[in-house]
Amino acid sequence: MRNKLIAGNWKMNGSKPEIRSLIGGILARLDPARSAEVMVLPPFPYIPLVQSLIDHTPVLLGAQDLSPHASGAYTGDVSGPMLADWGCGHVLVGHSERRALHAENSEQVAEKFVAAQSAGLQPILCVGETLEERDAGRTTEVVGEQISAVIDAAGINAFARAIVAYEPVWAIGTGQTATPEQAQEIHAEIRAQLTKEDATIGGRVRILYGGSVKPDNAAELFACEDIDGGLIGGASLQAESFMSIYQAA
Ligand code: 13P
Repeated sequence: MRNKLIAGNWKMNGSKPEIRSLIGGILARLDPARSAEVMVLPPFPYIPLVQSLIDHTPVLLGAQDLSPHASGAYTGDVSGPMLADWGCGHVLVGHSERRALHAENSEQVAEKFVAAQSAGLQPILCVGETLEERDAGRTTEVVGEQISAVIDAAGINAFARAIVAYEPVWAIGTGQTATPEQAQEIHAEIRAQLTKEDATIGGRVRILYGGSVKPDNAAELFACEDIDGGLIGGASLQAESFMSIYQAA
């Protein structure tokens, strides 16, 4: 049985007072009787603050990106060891906004995946097709290649210490969520691709869905066999909506 994970990707949002209040609201709504896990992914400067606010609670901490390098002359970048130093256990790699706005290709994403694991972090590998790719019937091919690039670079065993997030680009921040059937179909394909390499790893890896997850569509998505939780953007910025999604898990 794969434990559900609800992860809040705050993207480039928040301020100290907003974050204090958001974390307060999350902690107040955590239910120790539930098995679902909660993770927050703040912008870099707020990681130490969030770390101190969630210390000794079950809330997990992750970052939104990392450098493929461990240290050196890379002005403006943040490395895996630095994130680990500040208590992060997870980090997103290959979010579609990084792929689109920073021209990250699948090979670079794979390097970041490897760098994350070298620093002891679990990467959350984000994959997903654009609307144009979906309309052209290329979803399976595009997502398959994004996963293959990482299998080629890191090996299938690396997926024993990783999470995958399927985030169709057309569903991110648009209010147009994938239907449970659309999401389940791709999640099952991702799992089959990993299972073909290693049945145990494919069966155990958690695959999150992201893209306009809201309190009113979360339950039907999470009821799908291969959907192991959500990567939540907009709805993770309010404790009430984020934790309603958690309650749906
Ligand atoms: P939204 O939930 O705002 O669509 O964002 C999804 C996302 O990109 C999470 O990483």
